[in-house]
Amino acid sequence: MPARARSAWTKTLGQLLLILALAVVVGLLVGQPWPVLTAAALGVVAWHYWKLRGVLLRLTARQRLDPPTGDGIWNELDRLLHRGQQEMRSRKRRLVAMLRAYRAAAAALPDAIVVVERNSQRVQWFNEAATPLLGLRYPRDIGAALGERLQPLPISRWLAAGRNAEPLMDTPSPANSDLRLSLRLIPYSDELWMLVARDVSKLMRLEQMRRDFVANVSHELRTPLTVVHGYLDMLDPADQPEWAPMLAEMQRQSQRMTQLVEDLLTLSRLEAQDTVVDESVAMAPMLATLKREAEALSHQRHTIVIEDQAALDLWGSTKELHSAFSNLVGNAVRYTPAGGSITIGFRRDDDGGALLSVRDSGYGIPAAHLPRITERFYRVSTSRSRESGGTGLGLSIVKHVLNLHQARLEIESEVGRGSMFSCHFGAERVHPRDQSHEQAMPPSYAVGK
Ligand SMILES: Nc1ncnc2c1ncn2[C@@H]1O[C@H](COP(=O)(O)OP(=O)(O)OP(=O)(O)O)[C@@H](O)[C@H]1O
Ligand SMILES: [Mg+2]
Repeated sequence: MPARARSAWTKTLGQLLLILALAVVVGLLVGQPWPVLTAAALGVVAWHYWKLRGVLLRLTARQRLDPPTGDGIWNELDRLLHRGQQEMRSRKRRLVAMLRAYRAAAAALPDAIVVVERNSQRVQWFNEAATPLLGLRYPRDIGAALGERLQPLPISRWLAAGRNAEPLMDTPSPANSDLRLSLRLIPYSDELWMLVARDVSKLMRLEQMRRDFVANVSHELRTPLTVVHGYLDMLDPADQPEWAPMLAEMQRQSQRMTQLVEDLLTLSRLEAQDTVVDESVAMAPMLATLKREAEALSHQRHTIVIEDQAALDLWGSTKELHSAFSNLVGNAVRYTPAGGSITIGFRRDDDGGALLSVRDSGYGIPAAHLPRITERFYRVSTSRSRESGGTGLGLSIVKHVLNLHQARLEIESEVGRGSMFSCHFGAERVHPRDQSHEQAMPPSYAVGK
């Protein structure tokens, strides 16, 4: 007990004992000790009751009161309660101010923020930006079902995925069809989720401009390159033997540039596509063609093996898939020294889909490069890639083609031991092999990218 409370307690006890002693003395003097003692005891109880009432009145008073003065147990109790009350009030004030500041910050954000109750998927709160971006209005939409409010966006299905919900990167705004939004779901407690919608219209326009620019420049470069290429082909090194090495280098470089332009055009075309034609892709002739191409590139420097164990065919674009697979095979040949082996495998995947893998016993890729390897123009060892004439667009094309087929690329590699590039196709992309297709390659197959 603090010293001040202890002294108040001792003082009150002293007063009580004094009163009782006085009552006994007075009672003995008047010859009626018990009635006087009883009257004194009742007086003490009444006094304490009166003091308790005072404390209760002060505690429940609406207006702010000054701290009590005086001593004694009741004043001390009153003072302690008053102090606790003051502390609680100031804590509450601080909390309210903090909450207001958070709300003001969230309200001022340019992104739309909507707090959604997880089970009912109903709106609990949203900031100002949710009105122009998502069309939510206050107070009408507080408590509304979010899926219904944001129609035609497939929000309910998306919310149902919860923590696994992938961000929706480019979605039209339900409030304004000119706006493009990126939506992200952040589960921040067991009961509440936060939906964040960002206006990415400008970013999308810039991205479109970049794509158009690359496509147009590549297209414009095609004709002059064809002309240069044509004239170079007409020049005979035998006419000017001292120019022969320069001529050969010019031809090599112009071929490389032509390949680069073709790759950029392929990437632009793939980027502009949302879906691919859904034809049956006969895998037996596809694997046979890949083997022929690998052999042509390898000039018998490698052992090339096909392991076809799936008895499945794919749904998708034969041309695009061939382009992706032959990029992987081309890489395996390029980045495997003579004497190495390359295995092209096709088998069933555990999830009911299929897996096409290209395994080589080549140089391998250091782990640090793997996360960036599918970026445009990204090459691991520039000297080796330059030697092989690569531009660093091949795997980018592979990734785009696989994305269009909802497939994914996995890369395993060990420096000095080799690499394995695996393309995983989902169950919806495969069907039992149609034996009638196992003939020659369809004419749409083009060798190269
Ligand atoms: N099988 C492989 N073994 C080792 N390194 C590889 C393999 N495949 C790709 N790489 C590395 O990844 C880089 C990127 O490959 P990518 O196919 O995108 O470009 P590239 O082969 O250099 O050029 P191109 O556009 O002509 O394909 C390559 O430069 C190479 O360093
Ligand atoms: Mg390549």
